[in-house]
Amino acid sequence: MASDDTAKKSRPMSKLWVLLFVLGTNVVTVFLFSGPLQYYYIPLQSPIYNSPLHVQYPLPSNDLITELTQTQRELLSIKTELKSSKQVSENLAAELTELIQFLRNPKSSNGGNADDPWLQWGEPNRVSLPKELKDFTAAKKLPLGRNPSFGSDTIYPPVGHACAVFKEDLNKYMDYKPGHRCPEDEILAQKLLLRGCEPLPRRRCHPATPSNYTEPFPFPESMWRTPPDSSVVWTAYSCKNYSCLIQRKYLKVFDDCKDCFDLQGREKTRWLNGVGSDIDYSIDEVLKIKRHTIRIGLDIGGGTGTFAVRMRERNVTIITTSMNFNGPFNNFIASRGVVPMYISVSHRLPFFDNTLDIVHSMHVLSNWIPTVLLEFILYDINRILRPGGVFWLDRFFCIEDQLKIYVPMIENVGFNKLKWSIGRKLDRGPALKEMYISALLEKPLNRH
Ligand SMILES: *[C@@H]1O[C@H](CO)[C@@H](O)[C@H](O)[C@H]1NC(C)=O
Ligand SMILES: *[C@@H]1O[C@H](CO)[C@@H](O)[C@H](O)[C@H]1NC(C)=O
Ligand SMILES: *[C@@H]1O[C@H](CO)[C@@H](O)[C@H](O)[C@H]1NC(C)=O
Repeated sequence: MASDDTAKKSRPMSKLWVLLFVLGTNVVTVFLFSGPLQYYYIPLQSPIYNSPLHVQYPLPSNDLITELTQTQRELLSIKTELKSSKQVSENLAAELTELIQFLRNPKSSNGGNADDPWLQWGEPNRVSLPKELKDFTAAKKLPLGRNPSFGSDTIYPPVGHACAVFKEDLNKYMDYKPGHRCPEDEILAQKLLLRGCEPLPRRRCHPATPSNYTEPFPFPESMWRTPPDSSVVWTAYSCKNYSCLIQRKYLKVFDDCKDCFDLQGREKTRWLNGVGSDIDYSIDEVLKIKRHTIRIGLDIGGGTGTFAVRMRERNVTIITTSMNFNGPFNNFIASRGVVPMYISVSHRLPFFDNTLDIVHSMHVLSNWIPTVLLEFILYDINRILRPGGVFWLDRFFCIEDQLKIYVPMIENVGFNKLKWSIGRKLDRGPALKEMYISALLEKPLNRH
């Protein structure tokens, strides 16, 4: 503030200081939360919680809301008078608005409730939550105060909301000694994640690493060579070396992507010309259709990363999402020299709108995914594709009767069909009436 403030400005200034005092010292909040006001209980019976949750909120009086609203109005008029203190009053107005919103509707507001949702979840046994879980999830004040980009002075480090459902497993996961080795709990962690506890909370411990780690082969050798066994911690898998993983295609037991580790087998010819059937397109054909404007993209559920490797050979950068289903898929992809990303198909795709040239997914998006979730996934793929970008839906499978659900669902997202094929899936016999859909779908350049 300039020290030569005129008398004209002194009236609103004193009001501003009163407000600053009130808000800055949080008198209102302290009064509300500790004062003689009655408390009432809002039972939250959301299905994501194991038991009804009782949250305490103070009952705001209408007078108080009216008064605060009046103050808000005055503050806005002060704002127009005081050009030099624009930023200060804007921040105050924003905080006041949040406070009023919270008092009007404490249940739905997220602005005024500074309590840690995880501590509430821990009720009534707060003490039983592992300290590391509390330390990570607790609301944290920003050291430099309110951040206009955040619209807040507080951050809540994220964990998947469904973590609250799997209390016991989560407690196990967060029970470790900070600064030491993490427990070898890859299976537990992946189960939590697959069930919806995603993202998992961060931890302050060191993961197990191979005792005799061997660095990867250089390019381009790394892309088609089986990595050294000593690049993997094998604890979580039934195989304890790569030769076992390569051999497992001959075993009767079921494993996801059973023959994917054998780079000399089926992987070697995937997406190359001459694969044969109508539902299999070749990478070169797809790149040609898009006149080689495809440079970056994503392969959802990309097994051992062969799609990304083939694309890399064509100077296209692909990130591959994969889980570690009884095998070190993420390590393997990384050893080949392409980027693995450890997120499930449920997870919102961590890319900004309108950015990627291509999204590919083979044999993953299918009828095992809950229908509504699948529709959200399709829209999310459309979101991250740039206009003119393509979604290569590769061997989506379902039962013949389900085509009437899935075909309109895919069509309704609004892609242009560059290619579209429906064929029979016969690997388990014709009696099951299984079908494949393959498609090359383009996000329109102009949406009206
Ligand atoms: C570590 O790995 C390298 C390469 O695989 C191997 O030559 C060496 O014998 C291993 N050392 C031990 C102690 O296992
Ligand atoms: C790989 O592991 C299998 C058992 O899983 C074992 O029989 C085999 O000898 C191992 N091979 C090598 C090369 O270590
Ligand atoms: C990939 O890029 C390199 C360097 O820019 C170039 O020499 C090579 O021909 C490109 N390969 C393909 C398949 O386009």
